[in-house]
Parts: sequence; structure tokens; C-alpha cells
Amino acid sequence: MTKSIIVTGAGHGIGAEIARQAAAAGYRVGALDINGEAVEQIAQSLPDAVPLVASSTDSSAVEAALDAFGTPDALVNNAGIVRFTPLVDHSEDDWRAVVDVNLTGPFVCGRAVARRMIAEGRQGSIVNIASINGIAPGPNSGAYSPTKAAVIQLTRQMAIEWGAAGIRVNSVAPGIIDDGMSAPVLADPEVRATRSARTPSRRLGTADDIAKAVMWLCSEDAEYVNGHNLVVDGGVVSTVLAGMPRPASIDGIDE
Ligand SMILES: NC(=O)c1ccc[n+]([C@@H]2O[C@H](COP(=O)([O-])OP(=O)(O)OC[C@H]3O[C@@H](n4cnc5c(N)ncnc54)[C@H](O)[C@@H]3O)[C@@H](O)[C@H]2O)c1
Repeated sequence: MTKSIIVTGAGHGIGAEIARQAAAAGYRVGALDINGEAVEQIAQSLPDAVPLVASSTDSSAVEAALDAFGTPDALVNNAGIVRFTPLVDHSEDDWRAVVDVNLTGPFVCGRAVARRMIAEGRQGSIVNIASINGIAPGPNSGAYSPTKAAVIQLTRQMAIEWGAAGIRVNSVAPGIIDDGMSAPVLADPEVRATRSARTPSRRLGTADDIAKAVMWLCSEDAEYVNGHNLVVDGGVVSTVLAGMPRPASIDGIDE
């Protein structure tokens, strides 16, 4: 039987690539985004996709989208936003907007889908898109890092509450991805080269890297993976001690 998946924030960047890979894997795709034009275009380009124009934070709009699409076998809570400013200048409007989309959205969509799965006795998989910012906070990114840390914990909360119903919930924490919201940052050639050079895998990540991890978590190959945060970052979050010097004589390095 054809499996189905809803991807939030499917109109652009990582979400659009997840929608493409899901379609290529044979899923019927519900491409949900607040940007109607973008999501219509993505849905049209896929073999079996339905555009769902809604904000992931608005539970009536999400319920209407689920009524139209049906209960999916998988949900990817991918929609997210960032507002770069130092905390001392971060406005309450920006703080609330980021909390709303990045944290309340996954709760609203996850709850709506889980309620239906439980009522219908269907098993399923939910993947929340976090960030390495949820592990190591990025400077001047306001509410972004705290919301991503909360998404990792929300994932575990969902996993322990919904596991018995056969719903697995995991998160993916992308590193520095050459797509989507990082495009303006990586447009600076020096920033781009430095970020790539400081990544242990010596390259920037791609939407393809993230989509592959998401599709694996949704698949039966990951049937015993639950409550996990899968970091897909080429090793960036492990570099915290790499910048701390030690005398070369102690390190055993010839000077
Ligand atoms: N690009 C990166 O480097 C990177 C790194 C780590 C994590 N992430 C995370 O990956 C996810 C996708 O990021 P991206 O870079 O592809 O972003 P993007 O800006 O390219 O795309 C985000 C999409 O979400 C949609 N959206 C925004 N608010 C929405 C809402 N309320 N309801 C429904 N849709 C909404 C936008 O219209 C857009 O199509 C986000 O959760 C982001 O935090 C991205």
C-alpha cells in the first residue's frame, strides 16, 4: 500500500528536498507551507503530491489540512525561521515568532497527527527538524538556539508518550547546510570557505544529506530507533576542543 507523508515548510530549502526524496521513495506527499505559491510549485513537480497551504502553528488550519489529506504514515516537522540579532536587541515580537514556528508548530502538528494515529490505531513515524544550534548555541541568533534545544526535548517527550501506540518520534539536527535559511550567510565567500574548512568532513552539508537521514528515520530500517537526535553535521559539534591549544611538546607533535 502507498505510504503517505506530510512535510511542513515544504515550499523551500530542506523541506522541498525532503518532499522530493519522499516522492521518489513512493510516498504520497502532503506539502504543507504558509507560502501557497511555493508549495503549489513543489507539489506540481512531484508525481503524487498535494499542496496544503497552512501555518504549522495554527491548529484549525492544520486540522483542515489533515481532513483534506488524511492521516499520514509519517510527519516531518521541518518549518522553521531564524531572526538574527544579539539577545540584548532581540524584540519580543521576534522572540515569540521564532518560538511559535520552531517549537509550537511541531507541537501543534505532532499532536494533531498523533491524535488521529492513536484514534485510528495506525502506527507511524514523526521526525522533527532541530539544529546543531540546539546543542551548541549560535551567537546573535536570539530565540533560535533555545527553540532548537527544546525541539530535541519535545522529541523525547513525544517518544515516551506515544511509543506504546506505535508512533516513533526522532529528530534530525542539521549542521551548516548550503541551502535554505543559510543561503544569505553562505553568500559571503570568506564565511563559506572558513565554515567549510572548519568542518571535520571539509565540506558544507546539503539538503540531500538531511533528507536522506529523514527518510531513513521514517523507514522500517529504523524501526527500533525512538527518541533519538540524529546529528547530521559533518562533525561540526564535535569540534569544541579543537580550538583549545595545548603545548606541542605535550601533544607529541614535532615543532
Ligand atoms: N539551512 C540550514 O543551514 C539549517 C541548519 C540547521 C537546521 N535547519 C532547520 O531546517 C528547517 C528548514 O530550514 P531551511 O533552511 O530549509 O529554511 P527555509 O527558510 O529555506 O524554508 C523554510 C520553509 O518553511 C516555511 N514556513 C515558515 N513558517 C511557516 C509556518 N508557520 N508554517 C508553515 N510553513 C512555514 C517557509 O515558507 C519556507 O518555505 C528549519 O527548521 C531550520 O531551522 C536549517
